[in-house]
Amino acid sequence: MRPDVENAWVTGIDNIFDIHFVPIVLPPGQVVGLRYTRFIAMSGSLTAETPVNRLLAIFPGSFDPLTNGHLDLIARSSRLVNRLIVAILSNSQKQPLFPVPERIAMIRESISEFSNVDVESFDGLLVNFAARHNANVILRGIRAISDYEIELQMALMNRRLRPDTETLFLMASEEYSFLSSRMIKEVFALGGDVSAFVPPAVFERLRGRSGENR
Ligand code: PNS
Repeated sequence: MRPDVENAWVTGIDNIFDIHFVPIVLPPGQVVGLRYTRFIAMSGSLTAETPVNRLLAIFPGSFDPLTNGHLDLIARSSRLVNRLIVAILSNSQKQPLFPVPERIAMIRESISEFSNVDVESFDGLLVNFAARHNANVILRGIRAISDYEIELQMALMNRRLRPDTETLFLMASEEYSFLSSRMIKEVFALGGDVSAFVPPAVFERLRGRSGENR
């Protein structure tokens, strides 16, 4: 048995969880692969030693519009989970700039390179949407400490409503940590250049919007 692969540990993804691999061994002792055996979460119901074979994550939000910060989280999390569903809240009380079908189209165009990522809309409770998809993870990004309080409240509420779904947080990359959909809409409405902050599919539609309003 190869000592360098036996009980190999991939440790710490933003210090949120550890993944344990054990080698699959055939006689006469040749390692033919690694089996994913254990997921250890630091908080919530997926506590120590809970076996999880597949991670199906929901990335919920308003996405009005998708920003490069969202896209960065999608790219990074798509490497961590088996399947990721970007879930657009459709019954928000906020007055959106883009209707849901247009937000779906923009996201779909922007995620085409990620084969394990889909986009859908939902209304009602997020945990019900997660339950319908058998999702075991809700994924959220944190940009700054100011995000923490509301994210904590949502994560704790969602855990009470559906303990089977664990909320995982990824830290926003530094280059995107100042971005928000609200700020992009404001800067664009006031004539600022937002091309560096949103994917091309979003920028084209924003430009179309400004043409319509002339
Ligand atoms: O992009 P946003 O506006 O920060 O996303 C907020 C969102 C959509 C994740 C949140 O409002 C939500 O999950 N709404 C669904 C309603 C719900 O489940 N509420 C109870 C738990 S917070």
